[in-house]
Amino acid sequence: MKVLIIGSGAREHAIAWRVDQSPKLTKLWVAAGNAGTAAIAENLEIRSGDIDGLVAAAQKTQADLVIVGPEAPLAAGLADKLDALGIPVFGPSEAAARIEASKSFALELMRRANVPCPDFASVWDQAGAESYIKDHPGPLVVKADGLAAGKGVLLCQDSNEALSAVKLCISDKAFGEAGDTVVLEEYLSGPEVSVFAFCDGKDMSPLVAACDYKRLEDGNQGPNTGGMGSYNQPDFWNDALAAKIEKSIMRPVIDKMAEEGHPYKGVLYAGLMLTQEGPKVLEFNCRLGDPETQVVMPMLESDPLDLMLACARGNLQPETVKWNNKNFVGVAMVSGGYPDEYRTGYGISGLDHDGPEETLVFHAGTKLGPSGETLTAGGRVLTVVGGGETMEEARRRAYSRVEQISFTDARWRRDIGSAANHGTARLAG
Ligand code: AMP
Ligand code: GLY
Repeated sequence: MKVLIIGSGAREHAIAWRVDQSPKLTKLWVAAGNAGTAAIAENLEIRSGDIDGLVAAAQKTQADLVIVGPEAPLAAGLADKLDALGIPVFGPSEAAARIEASKSFALELMRRANVPCPDFASVWDQAGAESYIKDHPGPLVVKADGLAAGKGVLLCQDSNEALSAVKLCISDKAFGEAGDTVVLEEYLSGPEVSVFAFCDGKDMSPLVAACDYKRLEDGNQGPNTGGMGSYNQPDFWNDALAAKIEKSIMRPVIDKMAEEGHPYKGVLYAGLMLTQEGPKVLEFNCRLGDPETQVVMPMLESDPLDLMLACARGNLQPETVKWNNKNFVGVAMVSGGYPDEYRTGYGISGLDHDGPEETLVFHAGTKLGPSGETLTAGGRVLTVVGGGETMEEARRRAYSRVEQISFTDARWRRDIGSAANHGTARLAG
C-alpha cells in the first residue's frame, strides 16, 4: 500500500513509525513531516491548511490510504474531497468533524444521545449569557464554540469572571470567529482521561486510554501548552470502566451520528472527567491526541494499515484490533521560552544513540540542516517514549533516554507518569 500521512508533529511521526512496520506498506509520504519522518518516509512540503494541495498530492502519489493527523484539514472537508475521488481516508467527514469543530454541536448531540456531559447553554450575546449565569451562579467554564487551537477554554470561579470571559469571546473576539458562539458549562471535577476508539461509521475498536499533561512546569504549574507529556493506561483504568464508557458514551455517539446521516469514521477521541456521578464528556476530538498518540501507537499489536483501511472502508472487525498491555511514558522536550517566544535552529545531539531498550524518539518541531544534521524548528521539539512492564520502568527508561539528548535551552518536565499525579495532570487552575 502507498500511504500519505498529513501533519508534522510527534503524533504524525508516531503514526508513521507504526505504519512503517506494516508488511503491507510499499511507500510512505508525510506532508509536511519533520526530520524524524524524513528518515522513514518522503516528506512533501505542503501545509495542513492547503486542502487543494493535499488532495493533489494524494492523487499524484496514487495513495491507497490517506491518514489525517490534525483536526483543521478534517474540519475543512479534506476527507470529503478525498472520498469524492475514491481515495480511502482515515478521518471523519466535515459534517462528522463538527464533533470537535463545534462544541455546541457536540453538546447538543450528546443531549440527543443521552450521553453524560456537563449542564450547558450555547449563547450568542451578553444577554443570553446573563440569563444562564443568573440561574447558574457557581463556578462555570466558558468555551469558544469553534476551533481555537486548545486555547478557547476559560475556567471561571464566579458569575463576574464568567461574564468577563463571555465578553472576551463575543465582543473582544479574542478567539476570532471561533468565539462568535459561546458555550457555558457546569464546572466538573475529577481525574481526566483521553479515550480513543477507531471507528468505521458503525463499529469501533476496543477502547484505549491515555493521559496528557497540559501545564509547562512540574506539579502542573505554569502556563498551558500543547502538551508536555503523556502516559497510557492510568492506574484507575480497567475493563469495567472501559465497558461503561463504551456503553454510555462512545456507542450512543457512534449510533446517533450514523442515524443522523453523518457516520463517524476515524478516531473518536473523548476527553472525559471521572466525576462522582460517573464519566462525563468534556470534549470530543475528531482525531488522535498529541502527545497521547506517542504512547498509544506502541500499544497497537494489529496491522495499522488493515485497521485504518477497514475504518475508511466501513468494514472494521472490532475483535481483530489488539492492544498490548505495556506501560508507556512520553516526555516532551521543548524549546526554552515555549509556549511563548522561543528560538529555533539549534543542533540536537544524542539522537543517534541506541538508547536504553524500549525507548523511542518521536520528532515534532525538527528539521534537517544543510549537512543533514537535525535542528530544532518549533516549540515542542521531541517526544521521548519509554516502555516497560510497569509505569516506573517505562518512566525510568524514558528519562534515561531524555538525558542522552541535548540542544540549547532544552526544557522538559521531570514528573511525567509519576504515580503521584495520575489523572490529575490536566486539572487546570
Ligand atoms: P477542553 O479543551 O474542552 O477539553 O478543555 C480543556 C481543559 O479544561 C480540560 O482538559 C479540563 O481540564 C478543563 N475543562 C473543560 N471543561 C470543563 C468542565 N466542564 N469542568 C471543569 N473543567 C473543564
Ligand atoms: N492532547 C490534547 C489534544 O490532542 O488535543
